[in-house]
Amino acid sequence: MKDFLTIATTEPSELSELVELTLAVKAQAERYGGALTGRSVGLFFMKPSTRTRVSCEVGAHQLGAQAVVLKNEEVGLGERESAADVARVLERYLDAVALRVFEHADLVTMSEHADIPVVNLLSDLEHPCQALADVATIAEHKPVSDAVVAYVGDGNNVAHSLAAAVTALGGSMRVAAPEGYEPASQYSVGVTVTNDPAEAVAGADVVYTDVWTSMGQEEQAGARLTDFNRFTVDEALFGHAADDAIFLHCLPAHRGQEVTDGVMDHPRSRVFDQAENRLHAFKAVLLHLLA
Ligand code: CP
Ligand code: NVA
Repeated sequence: MKDFLTIATTEPSELSELVELTLAVKAQAERYGGALTGRSVGLFFMKPSTRTRVSCEVGAHQLGAQAVVLKNEEVGLGERESAADVARVLERYLDAVALRVFEHADLVTMSEHADIPVVNLLSDLEHPCQALADVATIAEHKPVSDAVVAYVGDGNNVAHSLAAAVTALGGSMRVAAPEGYEPASQYSVGVTVTNDPAEAVAGADVVYTDVWTSMGQEEQAGARLTDFNRFTVDEALFGHAADDAIFLHCLPAHRGQEVTDGVMDHPRSRVFDQAENRLHAFKAVLLHLLA
């Protein structure tokens, strides 16, 4: 593959290789140190970030590559300069560019006009680097092909990538979302979609949630608080899952909204392992695209 823009367009065999590479990089970081010496990777952000910014910058450094972090305040994508022209310029300096954008179409434009790999660091459609870390974290618990994964909450970018990744790897995916917040139809193929959180979570091996209001949707926050009020993952809901079920959240979490402290801090919460796995996953993506 040239780019890593969506899980939906990643071949299942390639996704499996990426999961294996993520876990290999985690197990043997020193083996890959310096694999990308002399290469340069751009990291471009139109939205805030903690995990993505730090894991990608550190991950590139650990592989010997230089990371150049760009904020949209300086680039002005589509305002100071068109996305196509930014792409034509960046390909002259960089070996790969990874971007966090509002509109997925901006990533497609970048890919069309840059001959270097383009990586999605979150768009309105997908968050594929997150999903790679997610399925790697699930694989540390049990084979994804045997796992029942229940996502409770907004049918958003994170839900899309997770559903695409779990189903591609042969796992079973359920999504519980309020009416009107279900995942897009192209991400619902082979997925059990319900409006009942308890039905989705019953017997599941993994319970996953994300924020009710994503970045860029802040003006809807009030309405969403009401619409999602039955969708908090609390200990009672988590109790419907399998006895050894793990809890995942891409973070940042809004404790008291989509998840309670009791579940975030539960002995079977794996949210900080999952956050760590963002580092190994991004290194795997860079190695796969550039090494
Ligand atoms: N999960 C995730 O992408 O976190 P950040 O928004 O902090 O990068
Ligand atoms: N769905 C969230 C994920 C943040 C990592 C958002 O897009 O803001």
